[in-house]
Amino acid sequence: MPKVSNMPQPQLFTPFKIRNLELENRITIAPMCTYSAVDGCMTDWHLIHLGQLALSGAGLLTIEATAVVPEGRITYADVGLYDDATETALRRTLDSIRKWSDMPVAIQLAHAGRKASSDLPWRGGGQIAADHKDGWQTEAPSPVPFKSTDNAPTELSRERMDAIRDAFAMAAVRAARVGIDSVQIHAAHGYLLHSFLSPLTNQRTDEYGGSLENRMRFPLEVFDAVRAAFPVDKVVSVRVSATDWHDGGWNLEETIEFARALELRGCDAINVSTGGLHIDQKIPLSPSYQVPFARVVKAAVKMPVVAVGLITEPAQAEAIVATGDADLVGLARTILYDPRWPWHAAAALGGEVAAAPQYHRSQPSTLKSLFKI
Ligand SMILES: Cc1cc2nc3c(=O)[nH]c(=O)nc-3n(C[C@H](O)[C@H](O)[C@H](O)COP(=O)(O)O)c2cc1C
Repeated sequence: MPKVSNMPQPQLFTPFKIRNLELENRITIAPMCTYSAVDGCMTDWHLIHLGQLALSGAGLLTIEATAVVPEGRITYADVGLYDDATETALRRTLDSIRKWSDMPVAIQLAHAGRKASSDLPWRGGGQIAADHKDGWQTEAPSPVPFKSTDNAPTELSRERMDAIRDAFAMAAVRAARVGIDSVQIHAAHGYLLHSFLSPLTNQRTDEYGGSLENRMRFPLEVFDAVRAAFPVDKVVSVRVSATDWHDGGWNLEETIEFARALELRGCDAINVSTGGLHIDQKIPLSPSYQVPFARVVKAAVKMPVVAVGLITEPAQAEAIVATGDADLVGLARTILYDPRWPWHAAAALGGEVAAAPQYHRSQPSTLKSLFKI
């Protein structure tokens, strides 16, 4: 679509600053597991996959859920950041990308909890038995399996919780050491930290279960540990599920309390997703279906809010940031399907994107200033 010269500058293509992190525009690439690591180490796949996304013109690239301990991987092929080998593999990928792209790079730090030890999604994604070579015993706040046929997770001891908290912090140290710009803590989608938050999965009777304050305690301890371990000038954000889409589950009111508690502790941004905790969740899927949750969270906090989920059209993304429903949008499947989505959105809306000089000659002559040259 030709650029209309007197169009107002679209909000989607205005810069945004979080702490010292300067984003060229409001488009962030959401974390996406690609199940292509070996023993937690990134491979050439990650170089190719993340490399192409780093040339997309988005404002921020977020590396997939990266396990802080081997048992925290969803599958045996997940990326990890828990020893020198996984750190070296991440460094190699990041160094290569950095040679050719100055897009800021975030990493999502995660522990999959009771949803760990799963098979690859394209092999059905079911739980792999603990005694299988590709499986292990899962761990969670309470011994409640995800599927009734799953082997139940082990209830975490206080000592093991300390070890996991420290592993999150150590992963943040490793991330800073290789030059990652920002860390996102994964507290969504039914994984370990979300399963502490939700009363459906947290049935503990100690100080980590029961009241909202107790259920938030471990995720907040992890946040504090990561915040203390990551350089003070760099961004730490958190991804939440704003509802379990299930009766008796974690809900929006509790999410607001959690967001406020995070903000008080120095959280720089919150990424608002939903679901993933309960097998019988009922999600009313439609375009922007999670944006209303982002809007409510945004009204309750001062930190920047990222909206995500079925955001596919440039005008739709522009409306989300222009109306102030959220500060940034996150794209996952949308940008996998069209890795040049930011270019196409800029063309449609009359914005400008950064593009590698090697690609400048691809600009259609009708779009004189699509690329920031
Ligand atoms: C292939 C794939 C992998 C994903 N992996 C992660 C992940 O590692 N961490 C996470 O928080 N969400 C993950 N998600 C969820 C996305 O980040 C995003 O929230 C969700 O897909 C909705 O956005 P979309 O409609 O643009 O795809 C994944 C989604 C897809 C499609």
